[in-house]
Amino acid sequence: MYLFGEHAVVYGEPAVPCAIERRATVTVGERADDRQRVSAADLTLDGFTVEYGADDATPDVDVPTPLVEAAMGYVDAAMATARDAADRPDAGLDVTIESEIPLGAGLGSSAAVVVAAIDAATRELGVDLASEDVAERAYAVEKEVQSGEASRADTFCSAMGGAVRVEGSDCRTLATPDLPFVVGYDGTSHDTGELVAGVRALREEYDFAYDTVESIGDLVRRGEDALREGDTAELGRLMDVNHGLLAALGVSARSLDEMVWAAREGGATGAKLTGAGGGGCIVALADGDGAKTALSLTPACDESFRAKLATEGVRAE
Ligand code: MEV
Repeated sequence: MYLFGEHAVVYGEPAVPCAIERRATVTVGERADDRQRVSAADLTLDGFTVEYGADDATPDVDVPTPLVEAAMGYVDAAMATARDAADRPDAGLDVTIESEIPLGAGLGSSAAVVVAAIDAATRELGVDLASEDVAERAYAVEKEVQSGEASRADTFCSAMGGAVRVEGSDCRTLATPDLPFVVGYDGTSHDTGELVAGVRALREEYDFAYDTVESIGDLVRRGEDALREGDTAELGRLMDVNHGLLAALGVSARSLDEMVWAAREGGATGAKLTGAGGGGCIVALADGDGAKTALSLTPACDESFRAKLATEGVRAE
């Protein structure tokens, strides 16, 4: 999830995403033939299983919702890069995905799945990639699937764990205090590519949107100072402003605004939408149970949970 800087990071501004203890688990087994079978029970609402040949241009999807097709796009591209890394273009693979994070909810689930899928598939094919290499390949996958619009933030963060700072191709891990986050989820999903394209169009048409993207970059730099100093009051203030700037870019939603306000009224130091927006999740910085309780009483909120920072990134289990 993003503490600061989503969307603006696509235009080279810095961002600070943090990994939380919700994981995507991908199991990969090599097959005797050259086909691929992908099974994902909880990544989308209905879950799906798809089997297809290596040469099929578009896999036949039983439940062809846009979300399932998006999920297949990510998994297919992840398997292709894993085969490429292992120099095994014809390797058939059985892929099973279990995810504690629904796709398209703003918690970086696509990045978590792509990172875990590349790691598991390359290991199965006998290649041991460094986490940084997994991150770089996962970034290329997201970029391809999201029509050229992606930053390294989600994928680097998923691969490395903890809090990270990403500015263009400069990615590094950050030392951070263990901050008390609460996440509110409205139960809906979005298409990251469409939301990113919407911001691009706005930024090209309006100077204010161009300036808003730059302002988010300035805010992220201030946020890094606050993080270093452990100044939670300032972090909260900046999260609130970041939410306002994202709303100005058109990526908030009524449910997200309602959850942000509920968390603040429940005592959160600050709250903002996280990820691409349009629906999905908010993150609040909140000691005690007030914000979580307030969220659970908010009709727009489907689920709320405390989110612990995950210090470990991708791992083999
Ligand atoms: C989506 O999780 C975050 C965005 O900044 C897109 C990206 O960085 O790839 C909206």
